[in-house]
Amino acid sequence: MHLLAERLGRVSPSQTIAISTKARALKAAGRDIISLSAGEPDFDTPANVKQAAIRAIEAGDTKYTDVAGTLALRKAVAAKFLRDSGIEYAPDEILVSTGGKQVIYNAMVATLDAGDEVIIPSPCWVSYPDIVALADGTPVIVPCGQNNGFKLRPEDLEAAITPRTKWFMLNSPCNPTGAAYSAAELRALCDVLLRHPDVWVFTDDIYEKLTYGGFVPATVVQVEPRLRGRTITMNGCSKAYAMTGWRIGFCGGPASLIRAMDKLQSQSTSNTSSISQAAAVEALNGPQGFIPEMVAVYQGRRDLVVEMLNAAPGIVCHRPEGAFYVFPSVHGCIGKTSRGGAAIADDESFVVALLDEEGVAAVHGSAFMYPGHFRVSYATSTEALREACTRIQRFCQGLR
Ligand SMILES: Cc1ncc(COP(=O)(O)O)c(C=O)c1O
Repeated sequence: MHLLAERLGRVSPSQTIAISTKARALKAAGRDIISLSAGEPDFDTPANVKQAAIRAIEAGDTKYTDVAGTLALRKAVAAKFLRDSGIEYAPDEILVSTGGKQVIYNAMVATLDAGDEVIIPSPCWVSYPDIVALADGTPVIVPCGQNNGFKLRPEDLEAAITPRTKWFMLNSPCNPTGAAYSAAELRALCDVLLRHPDVWVFTDDIYEKLTYGGFVPATVVQVEPRLRGRTITMNGCSKAYAMTGWRIGFCGGPASLIRAMDKLQSQSTSNTSSISQAAAVEALNGPQGFIPEMVAVYQGRRDLVVEMLNAAPGIVCHRPEGAFYVFPSVHGCIGKTSRGGAAIADDESFVVALLDEEGVAAVHGSAFMYPGHFRVSYATSTEALREACTRIQRFCQGLR
């Protein structure tokens, strides 16, 4: 008899493991490795947030809370949605989970039956297709071209919808491309969704605070309140407040679905850490001055990286609106051979040779369901980025 469930076989082992294992091994062997593969801010959690957590420990806020989160935090989340997006959620329409990832997991496991389809524009965050598959659903991957800024066009959404479509998942700003949808672009997608009343919408807005050059972020329910009854608006503290380790994600949505997700969470993890929740109240309600300072640094890095990568022969890098990633194409490098003798057959052999020969670790596009590209995270110091991009230029100049 097999030990492992059949469901686990549907989940692919992390595509990024091979490259990060190799990067670690090279580093251990004394090589100078620059990693551009981080999925988290390189900033520290703001001091006022840390202090709130310390106070919570000292005050004895160290016990179980409501599964859905403390009332104080759910009120702070509701205030955040109202302040930033003009969306009103009552506390019973809010769920706090162990990171944004658990919000996605809860929503999918609570709603999907075998054969239900989930539309996922690609390039996409690696976890979406796997979570859908774990929940017995079928991911329907819809590629979005670099020539459209890696954004889904309304006609592509329309064409992907079938009678089995249960969810449309949208991530703006996007990991791995940094692409963010304006209100007008969302409007066009909402018009399609209004024609399909059985399709639910999951919007992952976790990078909302990280947009540049005056770009104004927007979210689906804000643009089209008629979709409120079938939309989960997800957000969290991980990226906006440099709090990835605290594990705070949250969402607003219709009370009936929130109750179902709460029920599922009550039989898996229960509440997320009471101490992290106290810290999140301070993050959301306290001074927000940390965010524009962080955003200014990221914007400078984005511009540096885009410019330097576009100067590398064979690479084309678009300038995205947000997050802390760029997703350049390597089509102009494919079919060539590196100075070290590696055949560059695809995006994966490109990143492996780049790591071997120049000590720069990045993630190949196939890991995000979009070959021919690679993801660069600029959540690392400006000096390291400048050196890494210089090495990428040298690597590309050496291709024959
Ligand atoms: C697009 C996207 N959604 C969700 C998450 C998960 O965030 P959390 O750490 O809050 O679970 C990430 C983290 O990398 C992400 O990139």
